[in-house]
Amino acid sequence: MNDLFAAQQRETCTQLAAQACVLHGFALPVVGALLADIRTIQASAPFRHLVTPGGHVMQVAMTNCGTYGWCSDRRGYRYDRVDPQTGNPWLPLPPTFLQLAADAAREAGFEDYVPDACLINRYAPGTRLSLHQDRDEHDRSSPIVSVSLGLPATFLFGGFERGDKTVRVPLQHGDVVVWGGGDRMRFHGVLPVKPGRHDVVGEQRLNLTFRKVR
Ligand code: SIN
Ligand code: FE2
Repeated sequence: MNDLFAAQQRETCTQLAAQACVLHGFALPVVGALLADIRTIQASAPFRHLVTPGGHVMQVAMTNCGTYGWCSDRRGYRYDRVDPQTGNPWLPLPPTFLQLAADAAREAGFEDYVPDACLINRYAPGTRLSLHQDRDEHDRSSPIVSVSLGLPATFLFGGFERGDKTVRVPLQHGDVVVWGGGDRMRFHGVLPVKPGRHDVVGEQRLNLTFRKVR
């Protein structure tokens, strides 16, 4: 590998913490397949606005695929093997999803990543996701792999307390963020998505977050 190529390779990754990074454009080669799979998934399990235990309707619309799906209602947050809206199991993780998640995790230093859940978030313009930790998984060391599609967004990446300082991370179509190991429990969120139209995805941002629940 020549030096220039090596430098370009390094530039395609931004380190956010010891075990957290952004892989710029990493999902671009498989975007068509991902979007086709999302269409199939949403036909089986439509996007919906979940209610938080506190009674707030979430701005982000969500659906799932995988063995487990993330759900929220007045009783709390949890993972469920079936879609509470239909009673049907979630569709399995498509091969393209599994391959991308494993490839991104490996690139970020996590070998043999086999997620068992993928939460799919849909952000209309103006939609935000407040700071939170992903803490409903039994496996809290396996990484989170988060794929951004469509409109750009600003991702907030913080510390281990809600009030800790956050860094603002611009995310573009095709970017993949990976955080795991000692950085797995960091607070994170998304600032309101600015209105616009993406050539391929339209007036929305889609996000896939892979987790290992069990
Ligand atoms: C999440 O934290 O579940 C989603 C993050 C994102 O949309 O980038
Ligand atoms: Fe999250």
